[in-house]
Amino acid sequence: MTIAVTGGAGYIGAHVVDALVERGGSVLVVDDLSAGERARVDGVPQHRIDVAGPGAAARLTALFRIEGVDAVIHLAARKAVGESVQRPLWYTRQNVTGTEQLLRAAVDAGVADVLFSSSAAVYGSPSEPGVTEETPTRPINPYGWTKLAGEWLAADVARAHGVRTTALRYFNVAGTRNAALADRGAFNLIPIVLRHVLAGTPVPIFGDDYDTTDGTCVRDYVHVIDIAEAHLVALDHLRRREPGTFDVLNVGTGSGASVREVLDVVARATGRRVRTVVSPRRPGDAAAVTANIDRIATELGWRSRFGLEEIVASAWEALLATR
Ligand code: UFG
Repeated sequence: MTIAVTGGAGYIGAHVVDALVERGGSVLVVDDLSAGERARVDGVPQHRIDVAGPGAAARLTALFRIEGVDAVIHLAARKAVGESVQRPLWYTRQNVTGTEQLLRAAVDAGVADVLFSSSAAVYGSPSEPGVTEETPTRPINPYGWTKLAGEWLAADVARAHGVRTTALRYFNVAGTRNAALADRGAFNLIPIVLRHVLAGTPVPIFGDDYDTTDGTCVRDYVHVIDIAEAHLVALDHLRRREPGTFDVLNVGTGSGASVREVLDVVARATGRRVRTVVSPRRPGDAAAVTANIDRIATELGWRSRFGLEEIVASAWEALLATR
């Protein structure tokens, strides 16, 4: 079985590739290397294609045919919420047009299965934590809209063309398997905090007056190794389904941590003082977003294996190793 991973040289994609290679089987990476790094997936065949660029559908179709690709894991996308607010049209091109061209190629090349990388951002600001896949989807930023549009497209293409598709809605992904695969951006809480700790500068806490136990926002932090393993089991599950199927699955731990709880874990894991400064609320933040993981646990038998301590420790070790 040959699996193509778009965005496979990126932080999450490379962890997925790593898990697929470890399991054995034929894997190839499609990445435009705008955010991805070749070195992350050394030894794996790599094809430099921008899935959103002109002519991508034809190039991908040819590639999938020549390589006999059976399944595609589609992660190639932009994922910075703030940037999506600044550049909504560009996000639509990158994420929606990219997905359209990828699906076009999957259909034309006769690829049977597509796993689509989605996000808890499709839920927006849910009124209750513990969101299920049935919780109404109401994105609050262009990034979330592009992910939801990608899901709709995948569902429609599944129905029209018999491709089997699953959307995995990731919650807050963090941690790393090793320094080489680490997230080198500083766009999310854990990498941001670790950089502040290293520099000895204060971490801004965006609001401490939310209706949560300690007033700070609660999120469901899930280890990227667990996320990668979820792709393997989701793909195995998908391959046993009927043609034309479309599923949605939350991928989180099912439990939440507040910003202050994350900072306590960081202090313990690093042995360093974590200075903080309470700042205004960040526009668009929901008080608490955690996953209900009953569906993925029941239908796929998947559960996260790692906790916040392991997430933070792995990210810290990687940062120290590469600074
Ligand atoms: N936060 C701070 N200080 C910082 C950075 C973040 O207090 O310097 C807080 C935020 O206000 C939020 C929490 O930490 O309450 C987590 O923030 P992130 O930016 O790390 O993550 P988000 O929950 O906002 O969003 C992330 C990804 C999205 C994805 C979503 C899914 O950035 O792409 O998780 O739940 F869709």
